[in-house]
Amino acid sequence: MIKTEFFETAVEQGFYGVDKGGLFGKKDNVRKYWEDLSVKILMKPPILELLNHKEKIRIVDFGCGSGEGYELITHISPIERPTKRDFLLTPEQIEIYLGMDISKSMIDSGKSIYSKNQNMKFIQADLSKEYPFLEEEPFDIYMSTYSSPSHLTVEELGRLVEKVFQHTSKKSYLVLDLFGKYSPEWPCYWDDPDNKMSAYNMAWLHLPDKLKQEDIEPYYVKYWERKSLIKLLTNAASVTSKRIKIMTKDRSILVGRHIDTGFFNSHPQSLRYQVNRLFDRDYEGRVDELKADISFLKPYINKFPETVERINCYLLQWNTVVNFCEALIKNNNDLIKKLIESTDETLSEELKMLAWLFRNRERFPVDNFWASVMGPQLACVLRNLELNLPEGIGCGHGLFCIVEIN
Ligand SMILES: C[S@@+](CC[C@H](N)C(=O)[O-])C[C@H]1O[C@@H](n2cnc3c(N)ncnc32)[C@H](O)[C@@H]1O
Repeated sequence: MIKTEFFETAVEQGFYGVDKGGLFGKKDNVRKYWEDLSVKILMKPPILELLNHKEKIRIVDFGCGSGEGYELITHISPIERPTKRDFLLTPEQIEIYLGMDISKSMIDSGKSIYSKNQNMKFIQADLSKEYPFLEEEPFDIYMSTYSSPSHLTVEELGRLVEKVFQHTSKKSYLVLDLFGKYSPEWPCYWDDPDNKMSAYNMAWLHLPDKLKQEDIEPYYVKYWERKSLIKLLTNAASVTSKRIKIMTKDRSILVGRHIDTGFFNSHPQSLRYQVNRLFDRDYEGRVDELKADISFLKPYINKFPETVERINCYLLQWNTVVNFCEALIKNNNDLIKKLIESTDETLSEELKMLAWLFRNRERFPVDNFWASVMGPQLACVLRNLELNLPEGIGCGHGLFCIVEIN
């Protein structure tokens, strides 16, 4: 019995069992290597700016779940290299992380995971009407991740933002991570009036099994686009006499969760699944299945020209990269040359890098070059092209917004 005790404990603690996380599910590869990474890259400049003036920073996380936001901000890469520090912001540099969530089980889970962290506090609160953070000293970052504030109505979010602006005393940041209204996942919502809450579901959790109607429980959220968000923020700034600067980014334009389910657009394409495969070191991505199609958005072109144009612009870059990889595999040198010469400088540089990798595959001592080297690199190119797009308009699964408050 004593001999196996250690292993019994290890199994109980979940260290054994099959890890299937990467290809599907909540923390799949796209979440880890695309979405989390975008959040970290975008939050880096404000954190750096704060650390230039303060030794310790104060953070409140709205709709914190079990503290996922804390993990994100404490795992941002450092700015200088070489460095002894693994991350830009260490737990010791956080004076307080206050997580707030309506769900008791989320709060209990956060309390239990971080029970040893003296600087972390979790409070159960309904942010549509409760603001316990106001009882604390002002914070430097008022953050949210993965659509938490989309659970609030326009009025409720407006009220919360006003409370935040009133609460700030010096330069601080508000981070709002919302559902994007103009995602190709749900054109059925593009024309919705501003104050409407519309259905969302987590049917994607059930992939790859066939989606069953009884598994699909909808809940209602607010989908946001840039213009209404700016209106809400500038209004709150004017009521509270604050000066603000706003930055927005579209996240997961073609790899949103419901791109694969086709639940809201009746046009399922397994793009997220294929990108999950690309990031995975065991699986090869299927290049032919990576080609994206938005022809189903045709009926929306006249009414939403800017939106369709932005999505199409990204889609063209995406498909160029995919066609390029296909040309590499088929050794189609004419097409390789043509694509490098006909694209803009940034994309052309990415294509040249992919070509170099592919042609130097002998230099990489791995079992499966495509799965281990080429696939992950291709996924990074698709991600970086999205990160390089101009200000977000709400055409991704997520509309990420950072507000500098002065
Ligand atoms: C999609 S989860 C995101 C959780 C976490 N921030 C993350 O990054 O994974 C949305 C969270 O918002 C919380 N939430 C929904 N409505 C809320 C409300 N009115 N007040 C506070 N939290 C709320 C939910 O309980 C849930 O934990």
